[in-house]
Amino acid sequence: MIELFNISKTYAKSDRKAVDSLSLKIPDGKIFGFLGPNGAGKTTTIRVFCGALEPDSGTVLIDGIPMAERPLEAKRHLGLVHDNPELFNRLKANEYLNFVADVFGISAEERRLRIQEYSGRFGLADVLSASIGGFSRGMKQKLGVIASLIHDPSNWVLDEPMVGLDPQSAFELKEIMRQRTKAGRCVFFSTHVMEVAEKVCDELAIIDKGKIIFTGTIDALRRRREGVEGRKGAEEESLERLFLELVDSSRGETT
Ligand SMILES: Nc1ncnc2c1ncn2[C@@H]1O[C@H](COP(=O)(O)OP(=O)(O)OP(=O)(O)O)[C@@H](O)[C@H]1O
Ligand SMILES: [Mg+2]
Repeated sequence: MIELFNISKTYAKSDRKAVDSLSLKIPDGKIFGFLGPNGAGKTTTIRVFCGALEPDSGTVLIDGIPMAERPLEAKRHLGLVHDNPELFNRLKANEYLNFVADVFGISAEERRLRIQEYSGRFGLADVLSASIGGFSRGMKQKLGVIASLIHDPSNWVLDEPMVGLDPQSAFELKEIMRQRTKAGRCVFFSTHVMEVAEKVCDELAIIDKGKIIFTGTIDALRRRREGVEGRKGAEEESLERLFLELVDSSRGETT
């Protein structure tokens, strides 16, 4: 479980908050989607709660462990897939995976099994002894996914994970998300791809201009639209349309 309380972050040389008094609870056992337009604050939020960026104010708890006071312990409970899969280009894929496994103190047998399983599922088994520098973007992305799972984290966080993946790999990724939540784990991912959010997410949060403008199920988003606007037929609406309307109406309220 990931809990954020009143997180704010303004980047140096910026005059506006990238994340503004944001509170969010990401429960275990659910695939939680994080949606928002470009520049809304998704990556900043993720970097803050994974301990890569210090917030100006607010508290992050990972499985109840405060990131500010006990960062190493909190980070052991997290697996993060970055939006930009820039890895150690000079290493071979298996050197990189073993390096990450070393950092987390994973036994030789456990790492062997996990690397075997995930490299098989993502079609990377044959290239593990090749240099990462020669990998395509999608291959790097998948290697980053495997690395994020090497310590079997209770919270799996992915920033735009579908970008650059072929259909088979995207399918595997969604399968792994489902398997993990079925086993009671936490899965949180940001995306621009509405069809993916609609099919995969049990719950979602929508962010715009650093503020959460909706959290709940897609059904609740539909009901909200009917309630607020007295419109019928929202169950027929695609998430894309609901999303665009919500962002529009929240901007109307604040400007
Ligand atoms: N390193 C940085 N320095 C200064 N400002 C930044 C930096 N990174 C992001 N920002 C600003 O913070 C705001 C939020 O950016 P962020 O990257 O969190 O958005 P995002 O929702 O992840 O967008 P995208 O969908 O494009 O990935 C934007 O206004 C952006 O310009
Ligand atoms: Mg981003």
